[in-house]
Amino acid sequence: MKLIRVADAAQAGKVAAEIIAQKIKSCPDCVLGLATGSTPIETYNNLVQMYRQESVDFFRVRAVNLDEYIGLGAEHDQSYAWFMRQYLFDHVNIDPANTYIPNGLETDSDKECRRYDAVIESLGGIDLQLLGIGPNGHIGFNEPADTFAKGTHRVDLTEATIAANSRFFESIDQVPKQAYSMGIQNIMHARQLLMVATGENKARAVRDAFRGAITPWVPASVLQLHPDFTLIADEAALSLVLDKL
Ligand code: GLP
Repeated sequence: MKLIRVADAAQAGKVAAEIIAQKIKSCPDCVLGLATGSTPIETYNNLVQMYRQESVDFFRVRAVNLDEYIGLGAEHDQSYAWFMRQYLFDHVNIDPANTYIPNGLETDSDKECRRYDAVIESLGGIDLQLLGIGPNGHIGFNEPADTFAKGTHRVDLTEATIAANSRFFESIDQVPKQAYSMGIQNIMHARQLLMVATGENKARAVRDAFRGAITPWVPASVLQLHPDFTLIADEAALSLVLDKL
């Protein structure tokens, strides 16, 4: 694992965007695995800026997202489909036909999970997967559990995640209780992984994931096994591990 220490969230977004832009330059039709949450917003802002300065071109890029809430359609303003348009897709020249995200309105979860795995396979897998980390160590929506989920699956969100994500909704009751998420195997098969972790509320998750045992109870801990994993983290997120990573 490679660690890039940064001063703060703004710098983390800059560094992550540069790595993604570099990937696009070396492979203009690359498959980017994208993430949501507040952390990647800085990364997307920087990518949009680079696009406007003509230093990155999304024309042939394919993008596949990690997860989506069950019950929210793409037109719901808290859906991850909406988030991606709001922060990235509407501002760059990516072809919407080349963007993929689980369909939160599909009620047949087996069918939707098989469909999404087939999408990832048909794209030839993921070249670079961007990740955030939940305060409980989740990645995508792979929640702490007694096994690692392989492919795309339906998740019952934990109370901790519902509470953490309630800040984006008018009330906690409006937060969906389930989601579709890529599995750990989908993520681990990505050729390159890039995680951004900033802020003190990620310090415990960073410590448990990268200093502790590899266990599905801390889903991000599995990333220790990936051959090309980079963590971009600020001092606050690293505060419980100091120089030991
Ligand atoms: C959600 C997303 C994750 C994200 C996590 C942390 O649960 N499914 O992909 O990493 O939130 O979000 P934030 O960056 O807002 O802390």
